[in-house]
Amino acid sequence: MSASDSIAASDVVPTGYRDLPDAVLVADGTGQVIVLNPAGERILGRAAAEVLGRDFRDVLALTDHAGRNWWDCTTPYSGLATRTGQPENRLLLTPFGGGESREVLVTARYVRDRPVGPVIRLVVCLRRATARQIAERGNAELVSIVAHELRSPLTSVKGFTATLLTKWERFTDEQKRLMLETINSDADRVTRLITELLDISRMESGRLELRRQPVDIPQRARSAFARQIGAGYSPDRFVLDVLGELPEVWADPDKVDQILSNLVENAIRHGAGRVDVVVQPADGGGAGVEVVVSDQGSGIAPEVAPRLFTKFWRDGRRGGTGLGLYITRGLVEAHGGSIDVETAPGGGASFRVRLPSATPPFAR
Ligand SMILES: Nc1ncnc2c1ncn2[C@@H]1O[C@H](COP(=O)(O)OP(=O)(O)OP(=O)(O)O)[C@@H](O)[C@H]1O
Ligand SMILES: [Mg+2]
Repeated sequence: MSASDSIAASDVVPTGYRDLPDAVLVADGTGQVIVLNPAGERILGRAAAEVLGRDFRDVLALTDHAGRNWWDCTTPYSGLATRTGQPENRLLLTPFGGGESREVLVTARYVRDRPVGPVIRLVVCLRRATARQIAERGNAELVSIVAHELRSPLTSVKGFTATLLTKWERFTDEQKRLMLETINSDADRVTRLITELLDISRMESGRLELRRQPVDIPQRARSAFARQIGAGYSPDRFVLDVLGELPEVWADPDKVDQILSNLVENAIRHGAGRVDVVVQPADGGGAGVEVVVSDQGSGIAPEVAPRLFTKFWRDGRRGGTGLGLYITRGLVEAHGGSIDVETAPGGGASFRVRLPSATPPFAR
């Protein structure tokens, strides 16, 4: 690089460009590269000195997904004189000197010294598309899981209703009742899944609203038991212990119900034996309340524990959608609390929820 090039370079790039996380390449009015910042060197795998003075098209070999040379399509120097640049494009960059192409996000600015005058500088910014690709893959996966989860109960609803409609006379009352019960429970499953998805969308977009008020946690645990007993489980399976003097807790009662129901239901569905709920002051007394829900099942394998609270994680056997614990954790954390899982003394799973007191004026 000659002395005049470096002067030109320092003239056209703002101080601190070396620290820019995005790659920046600048070409002069003739298309010769005059600046490549360190992030650019990394993305191209070439030192700036190797590319300065070369034609920008050779240095930045960009193609679109149809395989077209992007510079042939955009013609920065000879295209429309009113054009001032290119919005973000996702393109493939073949590293200068060869190598495997990879996806990059590219924006360009055409600098003219007067309106509709010739381009005197071309500034191109690039960044790797990896993070966005991962997020998009996550979204695509979410859509496919949700579609699958909705399709299976709907297939059964459709199948049974069609059968009943066409062959009504051929079934006994008992058989018809059985089919209607299946339809009913599959319809519940769809409704529940949709409610869960709405909860998740509220949680993830920060729109979850907490209506805090004093909550009687032991009373809420009793109602969670009552719902299971109402669904046909024996009252003997549920034991509540309240240990010590509980501090007042300000929380959203509906959300507390949801947290407790999810944990008690999991203990029944995935665990076995008795479901013990212990409510006690959290460590440090006035800080809040701790609720421990334990069962006597086979527990949670330690290697699985870190994945338990992630979206759609479930085990193959009796799993539901795998959203319950993800939502539970979101609700607990929205209250400023925490949840973790350990092994109960008898070997079952034991979920420990800590809820802070959050008494006014600190309550949000
Ligand atoms: N008490 C428990 N004992 C053993 N395994 C459990 C227990 N609670 C949860 N699990 C495991 O964690 C997985 C995830 O639980 P989660 O509540 O998130 O989903 P789910 O119960 O399968 O579906 P749903 O979305 O209907 O709640 C379960 O599929 C199960 O394998
Ligand atoms: Mg569950």
